[in-house]
Amino acid sequence: MSDFIPVCEPLLEGNELKYVTEAVETGWISSSGKYVSEFEKAFSEYCGCKYGVAVCNGTVALHLALVALGIGPGDEVIIPTFTMIATAYAVCYTGATPVFVDADKNTWNIDVNLIEKKITSKTKAIIPVHIMGNPCNMTKIKDIANKHNLFIVEDAAEAHGAEYNGQKTGSLSDLGCFSFFANKNITTGEGGMVVTNNKDLYEKCKYHKNMCFPLDAPRNYLHDDIGFNYRMSNLHAAIGLAQTECADKYRGYRIKNAELYYEYLHKIPGIIFQSDEINSLSVHWMNSIVIDANLFGHTRDELIKHLKDHGIDTRLLFNGMHRQKALFDYGCECTGEYPVSDWLSDNGFYLPSASGLSESQIAKVANTIIAFR
Ligand SMILES: Cc1ncc(COP(=O)(O)O)c(C=O)c1O
Repeated sequence: MSDFIPVCEPLLEGNELKYVTEAVETGWISSSGKYVSEFEKAFSEYCGCKYGVAVCNGTVALHLALVALGIGPGDEVIIPTFTMIATAYAVCYTGATPVFVDADKNTWNIDVNLIEKKITSKTKAIIPVHIMGNPCNMTKIKDIANKHNLFIVEDAAEAHGAEYNGQKTGSLSDLGCFSFFANKNITTGEGGMVVTNNKDLYEKCKYHKNMCFPLDAPRNYLHDDIGFNYRMSNLHAAIGLAQTECADKYRGYRIKNAELYYEYLHKIPGIIFQSDEINSLSVHWMNSIVIDANLFGHTRDELIKHLKDHGIDTRLLFNGMHRQKALFDYGCECTGEYPVSDWLSDNGFYLPSASGLSESQIAKVANTIIAFR
């Protein structure tokens, strides 16, 4: 179907091909080429951070950040239940236990008023997730972390260039973690990065990412710690550098998409949008809506089918972590009530959201929804 609108396609309209070609032509295709350090420098600076450690995806970025903080078996880490499962997996990889907090009904981010109830003597860190590119209430989260002596690792996998109180996400805590999967606002195909302003944590990330080879000693193949091969290749970093050069432009496209969808749809009864956090700039990674079937006249699933019949692709929102058998079997407390997360999972979905979406495509999506009522 030629006028099919996919939910998200990457936009690669800068120097991607030029830099990748250069990497291939010079033979620097593994992780030692110049693009890795150039991408780390460019992207961490974009985030307002001194240091960046490029890795092979966003999931291992989170794991590496927790390793750098020394999180391990017996520890608890607070995460929102409404997130992508990578946030929870990263905690499990360390041997620690993820502890879930429900979402806020308006912002869909972790409900900051419920965090303290979940803190125990074992709690070591909080991972706020800037859901859909909407920054969390970091003022409140930092207050809680300071009061209870906890680390904060931002899961900014969906929030490239988002801002809270004028500061970029990723730079608002001990360590910030990004994904560069193909649907992200900045992509390398597969990829991730940990950013930080803390030199010691930066060095720990670098060390553990590369098999725990000593940072400043000759490679004698003697290792003091168990490390990981989480390296990003120069080919991926070449794409990442080119994407970072366009970061503000792409951010603008995503914000414009969101404004257009909102203009078309916010007055339609039964369509609910995510609200931006106060003093923040959301980068609207995915334009998501929740359907109140009574007001809209059809269920979420009926609307999704209608859009599919008209060549428009969508995706369901995440299922909460408390609903995951894998995490229940791991030993997480999954029996609590998480009504907001359940409401989002059962009634919400993403609309097409690519940076390169045209205004006429957005009009088509919106008018197809409106015509269905
Ligand atoms: C909130 C969140 N955290 C982590 C990840 C993991 O990133 P990756 O797929 O690059 O491993 C994602 C990916 O979509 C995500 O949405």
